[in-house]
This record gives sequence, C-alpha cells and structure tokens, in this order.
Amino acid sequence: MKMSRGTSVRSRSLLRVVLLIWFVGVKSQLTTDFYSTSCPGLLNIVRKEVQNAIKAETRMAASLLRLHFHDCFVNGCDGSVLLDGSDGEKFAFPNLNSARGFEVVDAIKTAVESLCSGAVSCADILAMTARDSVLLSGGPTWKVLLGRRDGLVANQTGANTGLPGPVDSLDTIISKFAAVGLNVADVVALSGSHTIGLARCATFSNRLFNFSGTTGTDPTLETTMTLDLQTLCPVNGDGNKTTSLDRNSTDLFDNHYFKNLLVNKGLLSSDQVLYSGDNSTASPTTKSLVQSYVSNSGLFFTDFANSMIKMGNISPLTGSKGEIRKNCRVVNSS
Ligand code: HEM
Ligand SMILES: *[C@@H]1O[C@H](CO)[C@@H](O)[C@H](O)[C@H]1NC(C)=O
Ligand SMILES: *[C@@H]1O[C@H](CO)[C@@H](O)[C@H](O)[C@H]1NC(C)=O
Ligand SMILES: *[C@@H]1O[C@H](CO)[C@@H](O)[C@H](O)[C@H]1NC(C)=O
Ligand SMILES: *[C@@H]1O[C@H](CO)[C@@H](O)[C@H](O)[C@H]1NC(C)=O
Ligand SMILES: *[C@@H]1O[C@H](CO)[C@@H](O)[C@H](O)[C@H]1NC(C)=O
Repeated sequence: MKMSRGTSVRSRSLLRVVLLIWFVGVKSQLTTDFYSTSCPGLLNIVRKEVQNAIKAETRMAASLLRLHFHDCFVNGCDGSVLLDGSDGEKFAFPNLNSARGFEVVDAIKTAVESLCSGAVSCADILAMTARDSVLLSGGPTWKVLLGRRDGLVANQTGANTGLPGPVDSLDTIISKFAAVGLNVADVVALSGSHTIGLARCATFSNRLFNFSGTTGTDPTLETTMTLDLQTLCPVNGDGNKTTSLDRNSTDLFDNHYFKNLLVNKGLLSSDQVLYSGDNSTASPTTKSLVQSYVSNSGLFFTDFANSMIKMGNISPLTGSKGEIRKNCRVVNSS
C-alpha cells in the first residue's frame, strides 16, 4: 500500500508513542505497592528486623547494603547471591571471606514468612534491607520498588567477571557498570556506599608495599594513613584484618567518603581513582562529580537514592518467571 507523506509521518509518530509506552511499561514493572494487599505490614517488619540487626552489630548496615549490590550485578536482582552451594556466588572471589549478613537475611525472611507465607521474594528483601540500612545509618531514603522474583540459579562465573574489583582501572569499573545499564555518574554516586563499612587488608595491601612492581607505596595514598595501614597489614600478615572504608565516620552515612578522596584518604584504589584519576578519559568527569558531592551533601543523597533505584531495576524477574523462594539459601525444588 502506497502511503502519502503525511500518513507515513503520522504512523511513524504513532510508532514512537507505542514504543514509548512499551519502554515506560518495561521500566515500571516493579511498583512501590506490590505487596500492599498480599503482605500489609511488610515494610514495617523489615524495618524493625534491620533495626535489630544494626543494634546487635552496627556494621551490618554496610554488609546488607553490599549484598543487594552483589545480587543485582549478577543475573540481575534475583536473590542469586543468597544461594548456598559450592557453585554459588558466595564462593566467587569478590564474595569469598567477604560477603556477610546471610544469617540476618535468614532471620528477616523467617519474620516475613510468619507474617505472610510464600508471598515475598528474597530479592525484594535485599532491596528493602539495603534501603533501610542506608536510612538507619543517617543516609537518604527512597520509595523502594518491589515485585522481583527469585532466580533459580547462582552464577559464580558471572560474579567473578561482573563485579568490580578494588584494583580495577576506572575504565574497567565503568564498563562493568555499563554492562548492567549504569553510567559513570552511577559509579561515583554508588561508590559513596563506602562511607560505611569495612574492608580487609587483602583488598588494599597492594598500595602499601611494592606498589605497581616498585618498592614504593601508592603516591595517591596519604603518608600517615599509609604508615598506619602498613602497621595494620604487614607483609604476610592476616589478610582478613579489617579497617574502615571511611576513617572519619565509619558508621555514619554521610559525604565524608568524598571529602577523604580530596586528601588522598580513600582506602581502596578504586575509591581514590575517582578523584586522583588514571589514564581513563572519564577521569575529569569522576573528579568533578566527587567535588560536587564534597560541596553538596544533599546532591549526593539525591543522586545516591536515584542510582540505588536504578541498580534495583537491573533485570528483575517478574510475572511468572523465577519463584518466591521459601528459604533464601535454596531453590524450592531442591
Ligand atoms: C565501584 C566499584 C566497587 C568496588 C571496586 C568495590 C569494592 C569493595 C571492596 C573490595 C570492599 C571490601 C570487601 C572486603 O574487604 O571484604 C567493599 C566493601 C563494601 N562495598 Fe564496595 N565496591 C564497589 C562498589 C560498591 C557499591 C556500588 C556498593 C553499594 C551500592 C558498595 C557497597 C559496599 C559496602 C557497604 C562495603 C562494606 C561492607 C561491609 O562492611 O561488610 N560497593 N567494596
Ligand atoms: C552468568 O553470567 C554471565 C555474565 O553475565 C552470563 O553470560 C551467563 O549467561 C550467566 N549464566 C547463567 C547460568 O545465568
Ligand atoms: C617486593 O619485590 C621484591 C622484588 O621483586 C621482592 O624481593 C620483595 O619480596 C617484594 N616485597 C614485598 C613486600 O612484596
Ligand atoms: C581469611 O580467612 C579464611 C577463613 O578463615 C581463610 O581461609 C583465608 O585464608 C584468609 N584469607 C587471608 C587473605 O588471610
Ligand atoms: C572528621 O572530620 C571533621 C571535619 O571534617 C573533623 O572535625 C573530625 O575531627 C574528623 N573525625 C575523625 C575521627 O577523623
Ligand atoms: C592505560 O590504559 C590502558 C588501557 O585501558 C591500560 O592497559 C594501561 O595499563 C593504562 N596505563 C596506566 C599507566 O595506567
């Protein structure tokens, strides 16, 4: 059929509207009120459980926040990080002797199951606990999107290749974020998570001795902090020993993480590189974002919340995909 020019323009703009509706539809698969009828009281019980866990151990806020991140970057936010087993993500390099909080997630799941059995996914529990952990540590809050279902497989290889590492170059970190739909601004805002929690010697000792194959130390690590960390993490010492990611205010979710970077007090190489830069063409961009969060903590909070919502939207399983796990550590059929 031969179309006039006007018809084809009209049908093209109609197509654009249809695509827009489809795109918006895809983007909003998750909703804030997903459990409002199937599990009223859910948000309150999760908040209370997270509060108890943080009261028992302040660091747990950081550990729970990190679990949601490590879940979302591997096969999407599908609770896969929680699955036990030798082929599980728990044994992938970024998680081994490092990821923690699994018992707390179990306790929250038990409380949620007794409130409304079989209704709430483990993936959503991670999203809610991450939000509550940030808020209860003094950070921003946001309306958490819900409706994710739980995956049926863990992906150890995906965890090893998809999660960023502390000695990755800026370009590598950016490409790992890009692989899950997150941009450079998300990298900087979400790295602000390192305003709470701890890291092990093994994750930053490369900066203390024989840095980059030399006999020196990392020039972008402040001198007294270097000496202090050399004492904490001697050569052939216990690589599991921990220290604060933000030495100014370990337990407080604030913008001091970014202030540290201005004075070479970022703990991980992947932290300091955001300000000090490497040969990435994105270095000027990350540096100026760091500066903007130093001077405007409200901007950091707003951007952080928005990036968390974006991260929580990574490839969720919805509809009849996946399942609602009864026990977060095993798939239902097993
Ligand atoms: C940008 C790339 C990132 C790298 C290279 C990175 C790397 C690390 C490393 C190596 C640790 C210490 C682990 C250990 O010693 O056991 C850590 C801790 C932590 N990370 Fe990241 N991370 C990144 C991004 C993120 C993001 C996006 C979040 C959250 C949205 C996050 C949240 C945390 C938290 C809260 C801790 C402390 C955990 C605890 O104390 O238990 N990180 N990260
Ligand atoms: C594991 O993750 C990798 C990298 O994202 C992906 O290519 C692969 O399909 C995943 N495997 C499974 C079994 O989900
Ligand atoms: C540093 O490198 C030298 C030469 O490769 C090596 O002999 C020495 O043991 C290394 N020191 C540390 C602390 O790794
Ligand atoms: C950390 O602790 C684990 C388990 O206790 C041990 O197997 C591992 O070798 C330790 N890692 C380092 C780097 O010391
Ligand atoms: C944290 O930083 C503030 C000012 O930015 C300073 O007054 C305070 O002493 C610092 N606290 C620690 C423990 O370093
Ligand atoms: C510069 O970038 C390239 C490619 O990203 C990387 O392989 C190289 O190690 C970097 N060099 C330095 C000095 O950082």
